Amino acid sequence: MIKIAPSILAADPLNLERDVKSAEKAGCDWIHVDIMDAHFVPNLAYSADTVVRLRKITDLPLDVHLMMDNPEVMIESFLDAGASCVTIHAEIGNKVPDLLDRIRNRGCMAGIALKPGSPLEMISGWLDSTDLVLMMTVEPGFGGQKLDTRVIGKIRSLKELGYHGEIEADGGITEENLGTLAENGLTVAVMGTALFRNENMEECIRRLHGIGLNY
Ligand code: DX5
Ligand code: ZN
Repeated sequence: MIKIAPSILAADPLNLERDVKSAEKAGCDWIHVDIMDAHFVPNLAYSADTVVRLRKITDLPLDVHLMMDNPEVMIESFLDAGASCVTIHAEIGNKVPDLLDRIRNRGCMAGIALKPGSPLEMISGWLDSTDLVLMMTVEPGFGGQKLDTRVIGKIRSLKELGYHGEIEADGGITEENLGTLAENGLTVAVMGTALFRNENMEECIRRLHGIGLNY
């Protein structure tokens, strides 16, 4: 079944505990935590302390997405905070393999993220060291954007490579496009706007899990 991971970037930062608990009650599977450094992306979001506090209020896996140029300077802070998965961007270059090892050596899932315009070849040599590939379906930095359909082909190619880890997509995912993503190999759907702006999250997640059952 497709796992649904609400992105707290679309939650109310002044009522994060309320929104995370309602997402958990509504039946979501993971919590996606966007961390932005205002350098890798032109935005700033959350911190390792957010992960510490989220760890105290939910037992759901915390799926931490580091949109940072220099994650090496504080990767241990996210691991110490109780992250379940830490994902770094392939675009930061040859620091990736060592960082993946540092994440896995702490018993945490290690993920690599790719921007929409970055080719799959950028990560093909690192796949054996990952538990998850995050295919950005929007340019990272902001929620509420439209899904870039070019990425669906990349998801399918990763599946056809025989990748056995989680294949996650992130950005612009809705009830309308989830089925297409799932039939091309998606296993985890990150959803911000489509969930937190929904009048009935429980009903929405029930429908989303229903769509996921078909693949
Ligand atoms: C964007 C973030 C995404 C985003 C998804 O850089 O990585 O997680 O918050 O939000 P929606 O679903 O609103 O596009
Ligand atoms: Zn994200």
